[in-house]
Amino acid sequence: MTKKQDYQLLLKQAQALLDGEKDIVANMSNLVSLVFHSLTDLNGTTFYRNINHELVLGPFQGKPACMHIPFGKGVCGTVAQTKRSEIVPDVTKFDGHIACDAASRSEIVVPVFYQRAFWGVLDLDSPHLNRFDSIDEHFLLQIAPLIFADNDEPITDQQIVGNHLEAR
Ligand code: SME
Repeated sequence: MTKKQDYQLLLKQAQALLDGEKDIVANMSNLVSLVFHSLTDLNGTTFYRNINHELVLGPFQGKPACMHIPFGKGVCGTVAQTKRSEIVPDVTKFDGHIACDAASRSEIVVPVFYQRAFWGVLDLDSPHLNRFDSIDEHFLLQIAPLIFADNDEPITDQQIVGNHLEAR
């Protein structure tokens, strides 16, 4: 199977896994687990949520991670600021990279939007250099928002308690 076919299968598995579930924490938890155990050469899959213009750790797989990341700091904070994905082939060459796991060598971070507002990021780390490319970005941008798939209602206070949602 090609990388693209692997991802097409992963996308279907993720849709099936989260089908019918509205709880965002349950969905984030199962999605990071599925991604972590399906893709090769990863040492971390992490959701960070945008809470009052700061990234706060969400469900993840991997070693304990940094809990608060200001917008503009590290790879995740850069994505939060620009609202654009970052593919980092060598983390030692990314100015301000935050090393949660010393084994990380490359990283991809994609922004996650809910109803056009910036909601957070999905961060994948690898112990190998140059692990991620535009195919990863293309599919992760489709896979991450599946956490909202059964949540087509307008945002409620309960869902975003403490969140400061921002336009793209
Ligand atoms: N490396 C990230 C921090 C998050 S951990 O990798 C889970 C960054 O530079 O933003």
